[in-house]
Amino acid sequence: MKNIIFLAVQGAGKGTFAKKLKEKYHYAHISTGDILRERAAVEDELGTKIKNMIDNGIFVPNDIIYEAIEYKITQPECEKGYILDGFPRNLEQAKGYDEILNKLGKELGVVINLTIPNELLKQRIIGRRICRDCGAIYNIYNDEFKPKVDGVCDKCGGKLYQREDDNEEAMNTRVKTYFEVTEPIIDYYKEKGVLKTVDSSSNPETVFKEIEKILESDDVNN
Ligand code: AP5
Ligand code: MG
Repeated sequence: MKNIIFLAVQGAGKGTFAKKLKEKYHYAHISTGDILRERAAVEDELGTKIKNMIDNGIFVPNDIIYEAIEYKITQPECEKGYILDGFPRNLEQAKGYDEILNKLGKELGVVINLTIPNELLKQRIIGRRICRDCGAIYNIYNDEFKPKVDGVCDKCGGKLYQREDDNEEAMNTRVKTYFEVTEPIIDYYKEKGVLKTVDSSSNPETVFKEIEKILESDDVNN
């Protein structure tokens, strides 16, 4: 299997479909947002600094991200391939990642750009709920993703919570930042010939099938 990068604006479904791929194919899932939220929960100086940044939708410095990525992709569970969710996020990180790959002798793989119209983002972000225990992702405004019991995880019975940055103000900052600094890396990967696009506004089953089709295609596997 080739490594996968999920590239998309906030709320497009990077986490949702990375988790589905992990469940079905046991790919390793590396979410820089999850790594940072975990680190932010440690109430020391660095944890507090990271918490303030992510709660406001501001990027965390590259050196922290590179260290986490290099550590994660060299773990045994990533040997057969992994999914990057939330990294790279700007041109500097895309180039920094190329250097890390060169150093480790690893392949870039395929970049999947999940697209979604702006008007759907608010519902996706404000309606999102996450399980505190297993990390499953729900949405209270979507029948496909609504928990069966309000506030309770269908999978493990854990309590659902809303992310601190899932408010309108942080959402606007994150979306603005995406279009300013993340979107330009689409061209970077297009020029490398590794970019695929999936419309993430369709129903989840269709989106997942499209992703699977890409992963099964010859140009991704050869
Ligand atoms: P991160 O956690 O990565 O957040 P994000 O990029 O804002 O992305 P989201 O997690 O909001 O969206 P998603 O695409 O995963 O959507 P999801 O699958 O949940 O990063 C958080 C912060 O950490 C950043 O702002 C930054 O501060 C920092 N950070 C992270 N990486 C960094 C880096 N590399 N450098 C510097 N700083 C970094 O889906 C959203 C909702 O939609 C869910 O409710 C879901 O149920 C629903 N949904 C999904 N797909 C569908 C569908 N097809 N139909 C209907 N509903 C759907
Ligand atoms: Mg996510």
